[in-house]
Amino acid sequence: MISLLLILLISGSYCVGDERVRFAAVLFRHGDRTPVDSYPTDPWRNESMWPVKFGELTNIGKQQHYALGQWLRKRYSHLLSTRMYPPVGSSVWNTDLLWQPMPVHTVPEKEDEILSMKKPCPAYNQEYKKVTSSKAYKERLMKYQKLMDYLTAYTGTKVKDYYDIDNIYSVLNIENLYNFTLPVFTTETSSPVLARLKVGPFIKQVMSKMRDAMEENVQSVHEKHPKVLIYSAHDLNIGSVLNALGVFDNKCPVYTATVFFELIHDNTTSEHYIRISYRNSTEIVEPHVLSIPYCGKLCPVDRFVQLYDNLVKYGVHESSAIGDTDSDSEQIS
Ligand SMILES: *[C@@H]1O[C@H](CO)[C@@H](O)[C@H](O)[C@H]1NC(C)=O
Ligand SMILES: *[C@@H]1O[C@H](CO)[C@@H](O)[C@H](O)[C@H]1NC(C)=O
Ligand SMILES: *[C@@H]1O[C@H](CO)[C@@H](O)[C@H](O)[C@H]1NC(C)=O
Ligand SMILES: *[C@@H]1O[C@H](CO)[C@@H](O)[C@H](O)[C@H]1NC(C)=O
Repeated sequence: MISLLLILLISGSYCVGDERVRFAAVLFRHGDRTPVDSYPTDPWRNESMWPVKFGELTNIGKQQHYALGQWLRKRYSHLLSTRMYPPVGSSVWNTDLLWQPMPVHTVPEKEDEILSMKKPCPAYNQEYKKVTSSKAYKERLMKYQKLMDYLTAYTGTKVKDYYDIDNIYSVLNIENLYNFTLPVFTTETSSPVLARLKVGPFIKQVMSKMRDAMEENVQSVHEKHPKVLIYSAHDLNIGSVLNALGVFDNKCPVYTATVFFELIHDNTTSEHYIRISYRNSTEIVEPHVLSIPYCGKLCPVDRFVQLYDNLVKYGVHESSAIGDTDSDSEQIS
């Protein structure tokens, strides 16, 4: 479910994007959906009360993806080919809209360390045990004991850690969006090391593709490397990535919240920079350019690599080091 790349780019208006952007990796949260896993005492537990089955994208969600796709098409008009998979013949389902959704199945979830984060990672499990049994973690979690006790009593399910709180939060949040008025709670973030183990492979891939793009002349006719990568994911991915980069505001990412990693080429100095932006809104608005810690809004690529070297290396080396094979806990948000 997570490693699904939906390419929702259609040919639309051809307004020109920022020509200095030579490559972009875009990580977005899926749009409006119904709850995945309700709690036992939930009055809205019956699927028939919802527009679509549990865990599926609603029409509101489809509209959000579509709007985001149109906007991305404009932003990267200079990087994307003119049209992507317009339907032909019997695939045309709407003559006013020569577009079709393209599900792209990547690797099985259990092998996916880039997005689904479900590839067994012994180092993560070991670190997770270490962190969750540490005094500091327990003390921090203790601050939420009253909340967890309340939720346990209220939801009819044992709420014992941040993941449980997050699951409840997610359900309540959706119900609130659907005008079933309920209390809403926010969550804490996990430890830096945990974030690194999970996020390292993603950052590594982005950096590697960015390097490929840097080495390729943007004008060349026979381009071998992708210019835009679009990753469809969950709030947990968005939060983890921002958290690992040290730019997270600890607010649950809204539907279609999007993080942009853009490679900027300054053609006067021939320098390449990385710009990270965050669109923390369901509206189609310009994203906020984030200030990268110790580097700023336009961070020279070499400096960026140096700053996050630890993040990338850590995720890679540690994950294959230890022989424990517990699978990770499953999180879908
Ligand atoms: C869900 O609601 C439908 C329609 O009101 C009803 O027929 C069905 O029995 C309900 N299911 C459960 C498990 O309560
Ligand atoms: C919830 O109510 C608001 C205000 O009336 C409305 O704009 C919104 O569309 C409703 N949400 C849904 C999912 O029906
Ligand atoms: C360099 O960038 C400027 C501003 O983005 C643009 O107007 C100009 O055409 C570019 N020059 C070349 C040689 O690409
Ligand atoms: C979105 O992010 C920007 C930049 O971090 C921040 O100033 C703004 O308050 C955020 N908006 C919301 C709704 O969180």
